[in-house]
Amino acid sequence: MNISLEGQRVFITAGGAGMGRTTTIAMHDLGAEVFTCDIDSTALDTLPAGITSWPCDVADSSQLDAILDEILPGGLDVLVNNAGVAGPTKLVEDITDEEWRHCLAVTLDSQFFCSRRAVPVMKAQGHGVIINMVSTAGILGYPTRSPYAAAKWAVTGFTKTLAMELGPHNIRVNGIAPGSVSGDRMDRVVAGHAEVEGIDPDEVRRLYTVGVSMQSWIDPEEIADLIVFLSSDHARHISGQIIGVDGHTETLWPRT
Ligand SMILES: NC(=O)c1ccc[n+]([C@@H]2O[C@H](COP(=O)([O-])OP(=O)(O)OC[C@H]3O[C@@H](n4cnc5c(N)ncnc54)[C@H](O)[C@@H]3O)[C@@H](O)[C@H]2O)c1
Repeated sequence: MNISLEGQRVFITAGGAGMGRTTTIAMHDLGAEVFTCDIDSTALDTLPAGITSWPCDVADSSQLDAILDEILPGGLDVLVNNAGVAGPTKLVEDITDEEWRHCLAVTLDSQFFCSRRAVPVMKAQGHGVIINMVSTAGILGYPTRSPYAAAKWAVTGFTKTLAMELGPHNIRVNGIAPGSVSGDRMDRVVAGHAEVEGIDPDEVRRLYTVGVSMQSWIDPEEIADLIVFLSSDHARHISGQIIGVDGHTETLWPRT
């Protein structure tokens, strides 16, 4: 299957690092006109030429609106709501208001801020694709990560609901639920869990595979591949799905 994204206009939030960056570059390489943003402007500076980017805190709707004001008049074929932060690794009684609200603002609110602006444009053009980053934490419980799990379960509900609202307008809405993806973010998450549990980070890494049927970690390229496929016409009748790329997670935290 050969996929070209020639002529597609794509907006991906948080394209500076991680899966957002891998996807931004993959879609650019396949011919799409890719727009992205990130709170880390230094990371944006290292993206390949031809990708348009803006520094932005996606928790702030006014910053996203200013970017979307520039993109949307030219149309938008694909919106990838990728931004999300891990939030604190703490028992619920230890989480502050600020930690809770920040995790939900970046991980959940940003998807609403972008979608509500993209939808009228997609309706008017008669097509569109929205891809929301969920997580296996949006399908299962996740001890010590309650704000993140709450945000991602909300994203699951948001995705299913938008798929119902927008299907009649030929707009497809899906979620992707990655397992543990190799990279800086999971290095930080593993360190946090090791501290909370008082165990070695290598033991945490091992435990993360114990609850996975395929006992696997995931490469960011696997997520980019699925986003490319879902953006293409090959996926023209795939909507309302939360698709795991995780080797099948049975539990997120086998008890130690
Ligand atoms: N890494 C994983 O194992 C994993 C697993 C499941 C789901 N996810 C989800 O996938 C998505 C991407 O995760 P990742 O691990 O690739 O990301 P990451 O932690 O590597 O961060 C990606 C980018 O987000 C940017 N960012 C952070 N806060 C921001 C803000 N307020 N505004 C704008 N940009 C901001 C960072 O600067 C960074 O460049 C997230 O929604 C995450 O919850 C990740």
